[in-house]
Amino acid sequence: MKILVLNGPNLNMLGIREPGIYGKNTFSDLLALLEETAKEENVELEQYQSNHEGCLVDKIQWAYGKMDGIVINPAGYTHTSVAILDALKAVSIPAVEVHISDVDAREPFRQISYAGLACVKTIKGHGLAGYAEAIRFLKENYYK
Ligand code: DQA
Repeated sequence: MKILVLNGPNLNMLGIREPGIYGKNTFSDLLALLEETAKEENVELEQYQSNHEGCLVDKIQWAYGKMDGIVINPAGYTHTSVAILDALKAVSIPAVEVHISDVDAREPFRQISYAGLACVKTIKGHGLAGYAEAIRFLKENYYK
């Protein structure tokens, strides 16, 4: 099974950005966790991070016909991007939305997710472990 893990803007700053909200673990720590989970679950992972909305749309389109699942943390674009929502709908690949923080317990604007409308599941507030949960969920439910 092939899974694309997509991270949106500012997630490359993990460990530096607002550690009280996102924790002290760095983006490299997240990549290590993804690798470890992929090994455990015996899945192939492609990971991509971008600060640019169009690049994330391009990568979602790239996944068509190649990937069996998508794990996506659209970060700030969660709450604004119809383009990312449309791209997820276009490729129709089972996608799980992940948020490190509990967006429901934060500002009201973070409680709206466009991308989430095209996702089979949302995991929020579980820290970096949420990504591992998302990979396991896709493996358990969509492995062919
Ligand atoms: C986030 C939550 C978003 O509201 C925020 O803009 C982020 C990260 C999270 O992982 O908790 O950049 O997606």
